[in-house]
Amino acid sequence: MKKLIAGNWKMNGDGETAEFFDTAFESHVQNSDHVEWLICPPFPYIASLGYLQRGAQDCSAHEGGAYTGEVAASMLADMGCRYCVVGHSERRQYHDETNERVRQKAERLIENGIKPIICVGETLEDREAGKAFDVVKTQILDTVPSSATSYNAVLAYEPVWAIGTGMAATSCDVQKMHGMIRVLLETSLAQASEMRILYGGSVKPSNAAELLNIDNVNGALIGGASLKVEDFLAIGLAVEQ
Ligand code: PGA
Repeated sequence: MKKLIAGNWKMNGDGETAEFFDTAFESHVQNSDHVEWLICPPFPYIASLGYLQRGAQDCSAHEGGAYTGEVAASMLADMGCRYCVVGHSERRQYHDETNERVRQKAERLIENGIKPIICVGETLEDREAGKAFDVVKTQILDTVPSSATSYNAVLAYEPVWAIGTGMAATSCDVQKMHGMIRVLLETSLAQASEMRILYGGSVKPSNAAELLNIDNVNGALIGGASLKVEDFLAIGLAVEQ
């Protein structure tokens, strides 16, 4: 399976940037043998992507109705979104998103043919207390819906302390965590045993080749470095080589 190189623009970028990216990636999207490219811009700019796969950063847990400000999974499907991030640590932290809510969102997405990118990851406090794997395990068991399979959903392991800090997890830590996640999928969620597991947290051109070559790292979720064409491209090209 191709590695998924997914950009999460967070609340950054504009229509012009999205169009610029799309044009810059046209030939790469068509010619990449080992990479599946995806950008998740803010909602208003999703429609500016045409060659690059369209993704979103969040969706409603509800199917529709009186939920001012929310965007339903079915609406994202109408816009041609293929993927949608759910449970990002910033949503958990600033919007009180619980595991249950994340699971509901993932369910809505799967029902609408969109692959959720379900984010999990421990805080520095969890890690220092030796609880990193337990925290991640609980998040996975509580957020991956029973409808998820190896092919209709994706996991993203993003240690919270590595997001936006410039300090990625070490290869050794990533290898251990992804290995444990794979075993957890195989033993507890057999229908999702081959689900792609992305790594996220300060992925950049200088560490991409090393991180993306680790066993059970099936792609990357990239924040800061996805805002510059040359950096995002360099990360994907590290896979192609
Ligand atoms: P970062 O963000 O690459 O800027 O660390 C990753 C993310 O938040 O998904």
